Amino acid sequence: MTSGVRHVSGRITSGVFGRITSVAPVNTVRSRFPRFNAAIWDMQYRLRMWDYLDRGTSTDLIGLLERYTANPRILDLGCGTSINLQLASGGYRYYHGVDISMKAIRAARKHARANSSFEVADVLGYQTAERYDAILLRDVLSCLPEEEITEFLRRIGGFLNPGGKIFIRSWDKSACAEVIRLVLESGFPVLEEQAGRANGGPESSIIVLQGARPS
Ligand SMILES: C[S@@+](CC[C@H](N)C(=O)[O-])C[C@H]1O[C@@H](n2cnc3c(N)ncnc32)[C@H](O)[C@@H]1O
Repeated sequence: MTSGVRHVSGRITSGVFGRITSVAPVNTVRSRFPRFNAAIWDMQYRLRMWDYLDRGTSTDLIGLLERYTANPRILDLGCGTSINLQLASGGYRYYHGVDISMKAIRAARKHARANSSFEVADVLGYQTAERYDAILLRDVLSCLPEEEITEFLRRIGGFLNPGGKIFIRSWDKSACAEVIRLVLESGFPVLEEQAGRANGGPESSIIVLQGARPS
């Protein structure tokens, strides 16, 4: 999946409108002005640029989630509407979704997933006293400033229970090459690295990190 406004190797890409070439340093603007970032994401959801996500599925991630966790408490950072995350009922203990877009979170709440809660927040400054068994980063790392990714991963690793894992999907492996490099060099043991292709899209990447000491 590509972000509606993101800076990837000098390109801005859009899932709905196809590839648009730009040199705007959107990441820099976003990291300095989180409210502006929230407004941009809300605007994209209002323009229905991300509607297509709700028609997709995250079966690739779900298979790995089932393999590496049992009845997990899940934290989904940058969850969007989360409608495409088809968790089996009874297959998880609790789900908490966080997104910067109020509009996306409203749609997520309407969807009424069982045993769930949602929150509007910027994941870059996100803190929680809750602990989880799985953290999902589905096509969200590429929306964050690259220079903040290593520290971001280190911080969210602290939200995990012993044995917890971080599941990272990047929709376009080649456009997200730098993000993937930062993930692989983050210091967390890599449990799994897979390439996939969903819905005729580009080759994607899924990485599972051992986020906290084994239980
Ligand atoms: C490409 S969409 C992916 C949505 C969802 N994870 C999925 O796979 O369907 C990226 C999501 O990240 C959210 N996002 C981007 N920057 C964020 C930030 N700093 N904090 C929280 N959410 C953010 C956007 O609002 C958007 O919903």
